[in-house]
Amino acid sequence: MKLFDVYPINDITIARAEGSYVWDDAGQRYLDLYGGHAVISIGHTNPHWVQRIETQLHQIAFYSNSVRIPLQQQLADKLGAVSGRPDYQLFLCNSGAEANENALKLASFHTGRKKIVAFKKAFHGRTSLAVAATDNPAIVAPVNETGNIVFLPYNDEAALHEWFNAHGGETAAVIIEAIQGVGGITVATDAFLQAIRARCTQHGAVFIADEVQCGYGRSGRFFCTDTAGVDADVYSMAKGMGNGFPVGGILIAPHIAPKHGLLGTTFGGNHLACAAALAVLEVIEQERLLQAAAETGTWLMEELKAIPQLQNVRGKGLMIGFDLPPQLKTLRAKLLQEYRIFTGEAKPAVVRLLPALNLGRAAAGEFLESLRAAIASLEREATPAHL
Ligand SMILES: Cc1ncc(COP(=O)(O)O)c(C=O)c1O
Repeated sequence: MKLFDVYPINDITIARAEGSYVWDDAGQRYLDLYGGHAVISIGHTNPHWVQRIETQLHQIAFYSNSVRIPLQQQLADKLGAVSGRPDYQLFLCNSGAEANENALKLASFHTGRKKIVAFKKAFHGRTSLAVAATDNPAIVAPVNETGNIVFLPYNDEAALHEWFNAHGGETAAVIIEAIQGVGGITVATDAFLQAIRARCTQHGAVFIADEVQCGYGRSGRFFCTDTAGVDADVYSMAKGMGNGFPVGGILIAPHIAPKHGLLGTTFGGNHLACAAALAVLEVIEQERLLQAAAETGTWLMEELKAIPQLQNVRGKGLMIGFDLPPQLKTLRAKLLQEYRIFTGEAKPAVVRLLPALNLGRAAAGEFLESLRAAIASLEREATPAHL
């Protein structure tokens, strides 16, 4: 049987991983500045995470949500403490799309309304409502099309106010990535996030922070929206939450009341996923990874800004992007093939860095050295031999 061919892949087979490094099946080592697509938060095969999952596996891997699962409460307590939101409620699922699907659905149940505000270049996942709120017609199937979503320009307070002045009473939710990932590392201004908070409060709409990529410590704060000093009503989470074990969830503000049957899932909140997610939070706490991401990220960003060929270096913590000028358009391929470094991309020419939160100065320095060498090499290749 053939695999359904939907991914343009690099011809590399990764056989082993540790910390911020992976090794291919020939034993070649690679530095991972891509974090397996922002998923690796505490480092590949972190020993505490491995041990937590292994121990749990020998006890019980799964039972349905029809019985008490104490690990879910332990996870909720830990998440409440680490995120600084002990009064929020936790609903567990399995992926980022599912988290957003549940967040949007919950907002509609809660308000009894249908209109959702999303933003240009947003990416919220590939399930029906999440993909409808994603600004990429190429991945929206005809059946997912709905007139209930409006895309406003990102960071445009005037457009936001205009929308709420006309449609505030019909608006169920505003959903935003505080840093757009797939959209190319675009950072929301504090003023814009504060305006969303104010207008949602004024009109009884639900503020959904999609923290699937920018959250869980990546920005240097637990939630990226924390940097603007605002509380969302619902936070969606996945990626870094399990460090590679599939787990997602939403944190729900206390004023949104649950009701039996409102949301549900077979696999969400299973024993193994809770063990993995607890291990991640324990390591984040023990190794002070929010501070680590902030410190390494600030230093790395300053170093990147000092490289004149890189344009518009931006981001927060360890979610960093920069634009490549035309003469460096093959930089990512060179970094991978010759310097053995994985990076992420966003169209048309953005390099996205999404490493583990405990990348550290040494590995970040190794990346910078290779980056400078790769840029110099590309410039030499572009210079005619007779000059
Ligand atoms: C901001 C954001 N939201 C949602 C998703 C969807 O997550 P998943 O692929 O786990 O469904 C992604 C994935 O890249 C994302 O970046």
